[in-house]
Amino acid sequence: MVEQPDVDLFDIDNLRSQADAHSLAAGRSHAVFFRHQGRTLVLKHYQRGGGMAALLDDKYIGWDCDYSRSFREWRLLKAMHQLELPVPAPVAALCSQHGLFYRADLITLQIRDVTPLADHLMQHPGDLQTWVAVGRCLRRFHDASVYHADLNARNILLEPHRHDIYLIDFDKGAFRSIGESWKAANLVRLQRSLLKFKSLYQGFSYDQQDWNALLEGYNRTENLT
Ligand SMILES: Nc1ncnc2c1ncn2[C@@H]1O[C@H](COP(=O)(O)OP(=O)(O)O)[C@@H](O)[C@H]1O
Ligand SMILES: [Mg+2]
Repeated sequence: MVEQPDVDLFDIDNLRSQADAHSLAAGRSHAVFFRHQGRTLVLKHYQRGGGMAALLDDKYIGWDCDYSRSFREWRLLKAMHQLELPVPAPVAALCSQHGLFYRADLITLQIRDVTPLADHLMQHPGDLQTWVAVGRCLRRFHDASVYHADLNARNILLEPHRHDIYLIDFDKGAFRSIGESWKAANLVRLQRSLLKFKSLYQGFSYDQQDWNALLEGYNRTENLT
């Protein structure tokens, strides 16, 4: 982690414009990879989607950076990292105030040798071990009471040889101490995402057996690490 993160350490305007260009090229993603002090870091520029995008673009309403999207995600990542959950190490959260609005960015350490699960499944059938590993990984987060607000096949990263699974993109995520129904809702959201990819992309490998393997991993209680 960078002690005393300082915006001057990063050429933030340049990185933001790269993020914008990247998001235009990639359609959606706002992540930019860059080298800093010998490490590869990933900058995510918070950008609105849907109807509000035309109106507010990358501006969010708020007057206290402490409650900004980036600071909240940074704090959640830090807590999860301390619990040794498989998430990227947070490096810096940025927030620039413009009157009643702010713009926000988050910098994390790159997780190496990973592919988003969605990309992997477009090229390879997911083997049983991978699906079980995804289920076990989700269970670890749920056992730690972590709610992911956008659990989809792009926010799950896979190291395919060791079957290591990581979760990213915890914007609007939180520790939830009350109730259990959100856990099932999280899984349903992921299932919906997988079915959507399958309907959109021919050759996207996903079927009921895969989901059953995921659930098997999720429900396995022995040797949960
Ligand atoms: N720390 C990281 N290590 C490796 N890849 C990352 C990391 N953070 C993001 N990525 C890559 O960038 C993509 C977009 O990042 P994400 O945080 O999901 O932002 P968004 O979905 O808002 O564009 C991910 O799908 C993943 O491929
Ligand atoms: Mg994402």
